[in-house]
Amino acid sequence: MKSHVAISIVLTLLVLCLAGPAHAGSCLTAGCHADIAALKNPHAPVKDEDCTSCHTQVVKEHPVKGAKSFKLSSKQPSLCFGCHDPFGKKKFQHSPVKDGECTACHRPHGSNQPFLLEAGEDRAPLCLNCHESDPFKQKYMHGPAAVGSCNTCHEPHESNEKALMKGPVREVCLKCHADFAAAFKAAPVVHPPVRDDACTACHNPHGSPVKMFLKNKMPDLCLGCHKSMAATLAAVKVPHKPVISEGACANCHAAHYGKAKGLLAADQMTVCLGCHGVDNLGTPPLKNIKKQIEGKPYLHGPIKKGSCKACHNPHGSAYFRLLPGNYPSELYYPYQDGAYDACLKCHEKNLLRFPETTIYTNFRNGNRNLHYVHVVSRKGRTCRICHQPHASDGPKLINKNGAEFGEWKIPINFMITSTGGSCAPGCHRKLKYDRVKPETYQ
Ligand code: HEC
Ligand code: HEC
Ligand code: HEC
Ligand code: HEC
Ligand code: HEC
Ligand code: HEC
Ligand code: HEC
Ligand code: HEC
Ligand code: HEC
Ligand code: HEC
Ligand code: HEC
Ligand code: HEC
Ligand code: HEC
Repeated sequence: MKSHVAISIVLTLLVLCLAGPAHAGSCLTAGCHADIAALKNPHAPVKDEDCTSCHTQVVKEHPVKGAKSFKLSSKQPSLCFGCHDPFGKKKFQHSPVKDGECTACHRPHGSNQPFLLEAGEDRAPLCLNCHESDPFKQKYMHGPAAVGSCNTCHEPHESNEKALMKGPVREVCLKCHADFAAAFKAAPVVHPPVRDDACTACHNPHGSPVKMFLKNKMPDLCLGCHKSMAATLAAVKVPHKPVISEGACANCHAAHYGKAKGLLAADQMTVCLGCHGVDNLGTPPLKNIKKQIEGKPYLHGPIKKGSCKACHNPHGSAYFRLLPGNYPSELYYPYQDGAYDACLKCHEKNLLRFPETTIYTNFRNGNRNLHYVHVVSRKGRTCRICHQPHASDGPKLINKNGAEFGEWKIPINFMITSTGGSCAPGCHRKLKYDRVKPETYQ
C-alpha cells in the first residue's frame, strides 16, 4: 500500500503542477522554476501563481524533456492588454511598443528591479540595447542623461510630444532648472529663441563635445541663426578681437537673458569699459578709455548718452578703430573729400567745404573757416591734433594740456571767448580768432 500512496502523491503533484490557478503553487517549488520563485519583484499574476493567465497547457504531460507542454495564451501585446490598458491613445508610440514587443524591455515573470525591468535607476543599459551609445559618451554630459535617468524626460511607451518627451521640451527643462526659469521670467531682456523655442535650439539634451552640451561651438552656434552677422564678420577689414577670440559672442552677450538692451550683461559703456579700462589691453596697448572719460567735465555727445556703439561697431568694421566711416590714422593727412566721414556722419557736412563761411563752423576768424585752414591742405591736420574723441577737461573737446598722441601731448593752450578764442600751440605763436572782429594775421 505504501507504494500506492507514494504513487498517488506523485500523481497529485504532477496534476498540481499542470492544472490551473488553484494548483499553481507547485509550479514554483525548489525543483520547479526556482528561478521564477527567487525573483525579488515578481509580476502580480506570478506572485499569485496564476501561471495560466498567460500559459495554456497543450499536452497532458509536464514536464517533458525536449518538448513544449505550454504555449502562451495569446501573442503580445494582447497577452498583456488582457490585464493592462492598451497603448495607442497618444500621438507617438515607441517603436517596440507599437510592434507589441513588451518583453523587449519587461521580464514577464518579474525581476529584481522595479517595473519588471532588468535595469534599475540607470536605464541606459536597457535603452542602449537598441539605441546608439555614442550620444551618451560625449566629453560634456548632461547630468540626468549621464546617469541614465532617461525616464525623467522620456516616456517609455507613448507620448503626445515628439521624441516621446514627457511634455513640451522647454517645460521639461524648466521643471528641473527652476531657478533658471525664475531668473529669466524676471529678466528685462530675453533672447527670443530662449523665450519661444525649445532649449534644444542650442543645447543637446544628452551631451556634446562642446561645453554646456551646446550644439555647436561659439561663435558658430550664434551665427547659425544670425546669418547676416556671419556675413558682416566675414567681410570686416578691422575685426574686434573679442568677437573672434575665445568666448566670442559671450564676451559681451548673454545667451539667454540680460539686464540691458542687446542682451548685454550691463549697460553698453560698462561692458566696453570692462575691458577698455586698463593700460595694457592689446598689442600695442590701446589707450585706457575709462581713464580718458572718468572725472572729465566735457563728454562727447554720444558718450554723455552712454553709447560707444554710436561711433564704434562692436562687431568689426571696414574702418580704422571700428569707426563708422573714414578717419585717418595718421596725425597729418593730405586732405581728401570723405576722409572725415566718421565725424561728418553726425556733424555739419559742410564743415570742411568752404574757405569762407558764416554758418558752418564757429572756428572762424571773421568769415574765414579755420577748420578749412587747418584740415584742408596737403599737410592736413587731423581732428585729433586739437580734439579728443571721448572726453576733455576743456571746452569743445579740446584738452587744456593738449591732445594726446601716443606718449606725446601737443600743447594747444586753447582759450575760448564768447566770439572766438585763442591758441598758443607747439605749432605757431599765440593766435587769436574772432568771428565778430576778425584778427589780422601777419
Ligand atoms: C504575464 C504573463 C505570464 C505569466 C503570468 C507567466 N508567464 Fe511564463 N512566460 C510568459 C512569457 C511571455 C514567456 C515567454 C518569454 C520569452 O519568450 O521571452 C514565458 C515563458 C515561460 C517559460 C519558458 C522559459 C522562460 O523563462 O522564458 C516558463 C518555464 C514559464 N514561462 C513559466 C511560468 C510559470 C511557472 C508561471 C507561473 C508561476 C508563469 N510562467 C507565469 C508570460 C507569463
Ligand atoms: C493576469 C493579468 C495580467 C497580465 C496578463 C499581465 N499583467 Fe502586468 N500586472 C498585472 C497586475 C495585477 C499588476 C500589478 C498592478 C499594480 O500594482 O497596480 C501588473 C503589473 C505590471 C507591471 C508593473 C510592475 C511593477 O513593478 O510596478 C508591468 C511593467 C507589467 N505588469 C507588465 C506586463 C506585461 C509586459 C505583460 C505582458 C507580457 C503583462 N504585464 C501581463 C496583471 C497582469
Ligand atoms: C522600450 C522599453 C519598453 C517597452 C517596449 C515596454 N515598456 Fe512598459 N515600461 C517601460 C519602462 C522603462 C517602465 C517604467 C516606467 C517609469 O519609470 O515610470 C515601464 C512601465 C510599464 C508599466 C507600469 C507602469 C505604467 O506605466 O503603467 C506597465 C504596466 C507596462 N510598462 C506595460 C507595458 C506593456 C503592456 C508593453 C507592451 C505593449 C510595454 N510596457 C512595453 C519600458 C518599456
Ligand atoms: C527593443 C529596442 C528598443 C529599446 C530597448 C528602446 N528603444 Fe527607443 N526606439 C527603438 C526604435 C526601433 C525606435 C525608432 C527609431 C527610429 O525611428 O529611427 C526608437 C525610438 C526612440 C525615441 C525617438 C522617438 C521619436 O519619435 O523620435 C526615443 C526618445 C527613444 N526611443 C527612447 C528610448 C528610451 C528612453 C529607452 C529606454 C527606456 C528606449 N528607447 C529603449 C527601439 C528601442
Ligand atoms: C534632460 C532630458 C533628457 C534626458 C535625461 C534624456 N533625453 Fe533623450 N532626448 C531629449 C530631448 C529633448 C530629445 C529631442 C532632441 C531634439 O529634439 O533635438 C531627445 C531625443 C532622444 C532620442 C531620439 C534621437 C535623438 O537623439 O534625437 C533618443 C533615442 C533618446 N533621446 C534617448 C535617450 C536615452 C536612451 C536616454 C537615457 C540614457 C535619454 N534620451 C535621456 C531629452 C532627454
Ligand atoms: C531631471 C532634471 C533635469 C532636467 C529635466 C534637465 N536638467 Fe539640465 N541639469 C540637471 C542637473 C542635475 C544638472 C547638473 C547641475 C550641476 O552640475 O550643477 C544639469 C545641468 C545642465 C546644464 C549645465 C549647467 C552647468 O552649469 O554645467 C545645462 C546647460 C542644462 N542642464 C540644460 C538643460 C536643458 C536644455 C534641459 C532640457 C532639454 C535640461 N537641462 C533638463 C538636471 C536636469
Ligand atoms: C540661443 C542659444 C541658447 C538657447 C536657446 C538656450 N541656451 Fe542655455 N546656454 C547657451 C549658451 C551659449 C550657454 C553657455 C553660457 C556661457 O558660456 O555664458 C548656455 C548655458 C546654459 C546653462 C548653464 C549656465 C547658466 O546660465 O546657468 C543652463 C542651465 C542653460 N543654458 C539652460 C537652458 C535652458 C533651460 C534653456 C531653454 C529655456 C536654454 N538654456 C536655451 C545657449 C542657449
Ligand atoms: C535659434 C536661433 C538663434 C540662435 C542660435 C541665436 N539667436 Fe540671437 N536672436 C535670434 C532671434 C530670432 C532674435 C530676434 C530677431 C533679431 O534680432 O534678429 C535674436 C536676437 C539677438 C540679439 C538682439 C537682442 C536685442 O534685444 O536686441 C542678440 C544680441 C543676439 N540674438 C545674440 C545671440 C548670441 C550671442 C547667440 C549665440 C549664443 C545667438 N544670438 C544665437 C535667434 C537666435
Ligand atoms: C565686444 C562686445 C561684443 C561682442 C564680442 C559681440 N557683440 Fe553683438 N553687440 C554688442 C553691442 C554693444 C551691441 C549693441 C547693443 C545695443 O543695441 O545697445 C550688439 C548687438 C548685437 C545684435 C543686435 C543687432 C545689431 O546688430 O545691433 C546681435 C544680433 C549681435 N550683437 C550678435 C552678436 C553675435 C552673434 C556675436 C558673436 C559673433 C556678437 N554679437 C559679439 C557687443 C558685442
Ligand atoms: C572682452 C574684452 C573687450 C570688450 C568687452 C570690448 N573690447 Fe574692444 N578690444 C578688446 C581687445 C582685446 C582689442 C584689441 C587689441 C588688439 O588688437 O591688440 C580691442 C580693440 C578695440 C578697438 C580698436 C580696434 C582696432 O583694431 O583698432 C576699439 C575701437 C574697441 N575695442 C572698442 C570697443 C567697444 C566700443 C566696446 C564695447 C561695445 C568694446 N571695445 C568692448 C577687448 C574688448
Ligand atoms: C563720438 C564718437 C566716439 C564715441 C562715442 C566713442 N569713441 Fe572711441 N574713438 C573714437 C575715435 C574717433 C577714435 C580714434 C581716436 C584717434 O585715433 O585719435 C576712438 C578710439 C577708441 C579706441 C582706441 C584708443 C587708442 O588706443 O587709440 C578705443 C579702445 C575706443 N575708442 C573705445 C571706446 C569706448 C569704450 C567708447 C564708449 C565708452 C567709445 N570709444 C566711444 C570715437 C568715439
Ligand atoms: C554719432 C554721432 C557723432 C559722431 C560720429 C561724432 N560726434 Fe562729435 N558730437 C556729437 C554730439 C551729439 C555732440 C554734442 C553736440 C551738442 O552738445 O550740441 C558732439 C560734440 C562734438 C564737439 C563739441 C562741440 C561743442 O559745441 O561742444 C566736437 C569738437 C566734436 N563733437 C568733434 C567730433 C569729431 C572730431 C568727430 C570725429 C572723430 C566727432 N565729433 C564724431 C555727435 C557725434
Ligand atoms: C587746429 C585745431 C582744430 C582742428 C584740427 C579741428 N578742430 Fe574742430 N574746433 C576747433 C576749435 C578751436 C573749435 C571751437 C570753435 C569755437 O566754438 O570757438 C572747434 C569746434 C569744432 C566743432 C563744434 C562746431 C563748430 O564747428 O564750431 C566740431 C563739430 C568740430 N570742431 C569738429 C572737427 C572735426 C570733425 C575736425 C577734423 C576734421 C576738427 N574739428 C579739426 C579746433 C580744431
